Amino acid sequence: RQNERESLLIALNFAKTYFQELMQQTDEGKSIGLSYFRERGFTNPTIDAFELGYSLDQWDGLLQAAIKRGYNPDMLEKAGLILRKEADGGGKTKTFDRFRGRVMFPIHNVSGRVIAFGARILKTDKNQPKYLNSPETTVYHKSQVLYGIYQAKQAIRQEDVCFLTEGYTDVISLHQAGIKNVVASSGTSLTTEQIRLVARFTPNITILYDGDAAGIKAALRGLDMVLEEGLNLRLLLLPDGEDPDSYVHKVGAEAFKAYIKQHSQDFIDFKASRWLTEAGDDPLKRAEGISDVCASITRIPDLLKRQTLSQRVAQVFHVSEQSVISEINRLLRKQQ
Ligand code: UTP
Ligand code: MN
Ligand code: MN
Ligand code: MN
Ligand code: MN
Repeated sequence: RQNERESLLIALNFAKTYFQELMQQTDEGKSIGLSYFRERGFTNPTIDAFELGYSLDQWDGLLQAAIKRGYNPDMLEKAGLILRKEADGGGKTKTFDRFRGRVMFPIHNVSGRVIAFGARILKTDKNQPKYLNSPETTVYHKSQVLYGIYQAKQAIRQEDVCFLTEGYTDVISLHQAGIKNVVASSGTSLTTEQIRLVARFTPNITILYDGDAAGIKAALRGLDMVLEEGLNLRLLLLPDGEDPDSYVHKVGAEAFKAYIKQHSQDFIDFKASRWLTEAGDDPLKRAEGISDVCASITRIPDLLKRQTLSQRVAQVFHVSEQSVISEINRLLRKQQ
């Protein structure tokens, strides 16, 4: 088992280097892959730090190169790098690369070893997913991984906060702008394992999601999970239509940091401001809002924190602290 794990990691590392060399040294790689990253404003140090690469638009470029170097196709398949399909009729199988003609984003574990890839299409095509990702393998459990954690961990400790974004390029562009304490949940909704991974480095998470309906939904979903793990949470939605990548390119690093300072909210303000806008002076809606914020508070394991936060809720909604406490207790009883 341990042996297979190590074999897969070695194969994945070979693939990473292969994709890097293709992008840096072949005409196709340079004119398509490298220029794509250039257009997105990625510099050489950034491309190196994230070990970005390119996969040729061929059926079995990686497979052939790996076989030549003595890699076993079974291992390549177990590593999620190649696919085998029955050709129609008569038991023949076709073996080919999973990633073809895409820019490659290696996904590293905490210790910096490549465990999977995300692969972006170059031009939008309705018939193909924008990003193709490695499947689950012995070494890649996507619910346990945060993109960028290896490049970010030191800065997360130093800054004592982790910025959580949605995507690969959000992590990379912020890193390039000098904001290095950033990771991404990469398309999956946030999991408890991912939150515990962050908790190894800091008790503070700030969610920076895309300013679209999907981003809001994801933020609300992630919120209770972060609280449940006992971490401190702030949230910020980028302006509508922007994500951290596009926004930091638009306004620059300093203005981006200032924007986070000014606009990030704790979870009470984040939820309350949405409810208060929606409710206006409808008392029933306001009550619903109070109950919703209280429901999140019941997630917090620490009793003292719950009590302090009850005061905040009372202030924000202009109700008595006692009514907030009773609502929290009512919800807690209901959960038992
Ligand atoms: P987004 O659609 O916000 O993409 O998805 P993005 O990160 O801004 O990418 P660019 O800027 O267009 O290149 C956020 C994340 O969701 C995952 C990826 O991890 C992506 O970074 N995703 C998205 C997929 O896995 N597959 C997809 O088809 C789309
Ligand atoms: Mn798994
Ligand atoms: Mn989005
Ligand atoms: Mn995005
Ligand atoms: Mn984007």
